[in-house]
Amino acid sequence: MSTPVLEVLGLTVEFATDRGPLRAVDGVSMAVGAGKTLAIVGESGCGKSVTALAVMGLLPPGARLGGAVRLLGEDLVGQPGRPWQGRRGRDLAMIFQEPMTSLNPAFTAGEQVAEALRLHEGLAPRAAMDQAVEMLARVRIPDAARRARQYPHQLSGGMRQRVMIAMALACRPRLLIADEPTTALDVTVQAQILALLDELKRETGTAVVLITHDLGVVADHADEVAVMYAGRIAEAAPAAALFARPEHPYTVGLLGAVPSIEGGAQGKITRLASIEGTVPDLRAPPPGCRFAPRCPFAGADCAAQPPLAEVHPGHRTACWRAPLDGVAEGAVPARAAAGATA
Ligand SMILES: Nc1ncnc2c1ncn2[C@@H]1O[C@H](COP(=O)(O)OP(=O)(O)O)[C@@H](O)[C@H]1O
Ligand code: SF4
Ligand SMILES: [Mg+2]
Repeated sequence: MSTPVLEVLGLTVEFATDRGPLRAVDGVSMAVGAGKTLAIVGESGCGKSVTALAVMGLLPPGARLGGAVRLLGEDLVGQPGRPWQGRRGRDLAMIFQEPMTSLNPAFTAGEQVAEALRLHEGLAPRAAMDQAVEMLARVRIPDAARRARQYPHQLSGGMRQRVMIAMALACRPRLLIADEPTTALDVTVQAQILALLDELKRETGTAVVLITHDLGVVADHADEVAVMYAGRIAEAAPAAALFARPEHPYTVGLLGAVPSIEGGAQGKITRLASIEGTVPDLRAPPPGCRFAPRCPFAGADCAAQPPLAEVHPGHRTACWRAPLDGVAEGAVPARAAAGATA
């Protein structure tokens, strides 16, 4: 197998807070290859964004980082100096949920994309602007030459998001991280942007890490999925396998089918909109399996932490009950089952 574009090994991120240390990421490992999409899913507060920021070298000062982040086989965490500098924007790029965090209100859309091209491709100003307009057209901004002369506030949310994608892709990064890139957009624009990411990935071989809470999006756009819960990976598998046969009760919960508590593993499957309870405070997580307080299958053995172990080839889960023996069969979200992106 060729070297993955990104390989994360035993990543830990700890913040000092007023109320004690908070370990937001606790031993996360994942990999994504060229031209592939790895989706990271999980409820809010599970450590998805912190994982992304760690990979990008964008953690706030004071955050303690451990483990390895290998880009094309080279670990950045262990290197002295500023190993991310010069790589961000060139090898690594990230798009955020709110494009205004990355766009400068004082410059036109064209100027911002052109600036990225000037920096990373060394183009002369005029050539950079011509290519910027081309780039804006490629991300499906209608009338790109005119839009290039407009400022961010003159553009719709969907167009600003496309400008940010154009900036990120201008330097043809080897790895693109998209953190909830379409959450703030309406479904039509959302579908267009995800289709655009797929297309560019196919064309340029960029590896994509797509953070989303929308399982319909995962079903339609991801090759591999990592389910995060309370700072750890609960389950990781090829997307089709995860939907066909989820092997962690948390994933089953996310997919919307929660086995009834009374009936146990053999019980009737009841569909619930969400999982009862909340993500634990990461300053004082439950000992053992972190999902235990919310898990219908929890038992005394769950007081010990289950390892993330292979349950089928390429399919890993951290649950003492795995394999769940199809208890969650049919737990595919309606949109994914219908094959629609809406
Ligand atoms: N700068 C920070 N300082 C302290 N705690 C943080 C900081 N950033 C994130 N956290 C905490 O880390 C945990 C994971 O956050 P995050 O990665 O943003 O979750 P997600 O993206 O999955 O919703 C949360 O408990 C959050 O409060
Ligand atoms: S290890 Fe135990 S508590 Fe954790 S998910 Fe599996 S059954 Fe539930
Ligand atoms: Mg987040």
